[in-house]
Amino acid sequence: MIYLLVLAVAFIAYYVKSYYDDVKRYPKGPAPLPIVGNLFSFEGDMNTQFHEIISGLSKKYGPVFTVYLPRPYVVICDYHLMKEALVTRGEDFAGRSGMIPDKTVFDADNGGVVFSWGNIWRENRRASLHILRNFGMNNSLMEEQVLISIEDCLRHVDSLYAQSNEIDLRWPIQLYVGNVINKTFFGYHYSYEKCDRYVELVKKSNLMIDAISENINWMMLAQQYPFLTKLPYIGYKAKKVYEDAFKPLIEHIAEDVSNSLKSYDSNGEPECFVHAYQKLIDKGSTEEINQKEMQNVVVDFFIAGTETTSTTLRWAMLYMAKYQEVQDKVRKEIYDAYGTDKLPTTDHKSQMPYTVATIHEIQRFCNLVNINIIHRTTKDTQVGKKAVEQCIPFSLGKRACAGEGLARLELFIGLTSILQRYKIEPLPGKTVDIEPVGGGGAMLMPKQQKLKNVSQNILQVFPMNLNFIN
Ligand code: HEM
Repeated sequence: MIYLLVLAVAFIAYYVKSYYDDVKRYPKGPAPLPIVGNLFSFEGDMNTQFHEIISGLSKKYGPVFTVYLPRPYVVICDYHLMKEALVTRGEDFAGRSGMIPDKTVFDADNGGVVFSWGNIWRENRRASLHILRNFGMNNSLMEEQVLISIEDCLRHVDSLYAQSNEIDLRWPIQLYVGNVINKTFFGYHYSYEKCDRYVELVKKSNLMIDAISENINWMMLAQQYPFLTKLPYIGYKAKKVYEDAFKPLIEHIAEDVSNSLKSYDSNGEPECFVHAYQKLIDKGSTEEINQKEMQNVVVDFFIAGTETTSTTLRWAMLYMAKYQEVQDKVRKEIYDAYGTDKLPTTDHKSQMPYTVATIHEIQRFCNLVNINIIHRTTKDTQVGKKAVEQCIPFSLGKRACAGEGLARLELFIGLTSILQRYKIEPLPGKTVDIEPVGGGGAMLMPKQQKLKNVSQNILQVFPMNLNFIN
C-alpha cells in the first residue's frame, strides 16, 4: 500500500515538474494549473468577454503571452506583432488547429479552406479565389449581383413597411447577403415570398453557434484530452453536440451542390462556383481539388460569407438607431452623391469619406470576430516587440479573409441603400441595447431587442422602428 502511495506521489511530482518545465517554453502569461490550465480562472463570460479578458491580460503580461485552455494558446495582441507573425513569417503561422470544433466542419481529417492546412488549404484557397475573381469578385460583375440583391431586399422592406413601421430587419438583411452567396455558389437565389428553406438553414447554423457557446469549456478540455469525447454525456457535450448541430447544415449544402451539378455542362461556361469547381475537377490538375473538397469548400464559404457580413450589418442598424447624428451625416453624403432616387453604387465611394469611416468604425466597434480563428505554427518560430492599436477585422497575411472585397462591397451597398430609404430609430421610449450576446466564442452577436407588436421569437433579434424619410 505504502509502496503504491509513494509511487503515486512520485508520479504526480514528476507530472507537475514536467508540466511547469513545459510552461517555461512559452511566452509568460497567467500561471496555469496542471490539467485544467487557466480554463476556470478567468472572471467573465468566455463567449462574450474573452477579448476583454485577453486585453486585460495583455496589460499585465505584454503583447505576447500564453493562456492555457488547457492547451497552450499563444496570444498576440498588437498590430505590428500580428503583422510580423501573419505577414512577414506568414508561412510559419499558416496552420490551423486540426481539433474540434473546427474538425466538425469538414468531412475528412483536413479539408476545405477555413480550417484546413497544408496543400489542401493552399490549393483550395487558390482555386476558390481564382473562381471568385472570374465571377467578378473585386469588380463590377459582383457589384451587379449585390445591387440586384439589395433591390430585392428593399422591395421586401417596402412591402413590410406598408403594413407597419415596426420592422424586423433581421431576415431582409440575412437574405440580402445570403442571396449573393446562393447565386454565386449555386446559381439560384431565394424570393422573399418563398425563403423558408433559407430561414431554416440560418436557424440551423445558429443552433451550432448556441451549441458551442453552451459547451465551450467541455470542448476546450476535450481538445487537450481527446479521450473525453468517448465518455457518455461529457463526450456529447465536448463533441457530439456540434456534430449533431452541424449535420443538417452540411446536408442542406450537399443538396444545393448536387442540384447545382444537375445543370452542369462540361462544354459550357460555368454558371456558378460549383460548376467552375467541377470544371477544375474534370481537368484533374491536382488531387486536392476533388468532389469531397468541393463540398467542404462550399460549406466553408457559406458559413464564412453569410453570418459575418449580415451580423455586421445588423450591428450597423443598431448603431445607426443609437447614434442618430452619425446616421444623418452618412445620409447627407448619400444624398450629395446619389440624390434620393438613384440606388447607391461604389462609383462615388471616394466622395464619401464619412460613410467609409463609419463602416470602419462599425466594424471596429462591433468587433465581430473578437478572437481570430486559431492559427497553428507550422514550425518553431518567434515574434518581436512593439505596441500600437489597429482595427483589422479581416485579419492579415496568407490566411486573411478570402471574402474581404465582397464583404466590404456588401457593407457599403447595404448600409447606404437602407439609409437612403429609411430613417432608423428605436421604438418610442426604448433605448438600443448594444451589449453583445455569445457567438460560440467566434463572433459577437447583437442582442434580441424586445418590442411590442413584434414576435418574441428568439431569432428575431433585430426589431427596429423604421420611418420613411422621403
Ligand atoms: C464583415 C464580414 C467578414 C469578416 C469580419 C470576416 C473576417 C474574417 C476573419 C477574421 C478571418 C480569419 C483570418 C485568419 O485566420 O487570420 C476570415 C477568414 C475567411 N473568410 Fe471572412 N470575413 C467576412 C466576410 C467574408 C465573406 C463575405 C467571405 C466569402 C464570400 C469570407 C470568406 C472567408 C474565408 C474562406 C476565410 C478563410 C481564409 C483562410 O483560412 O485561408 N469572409 N474572415
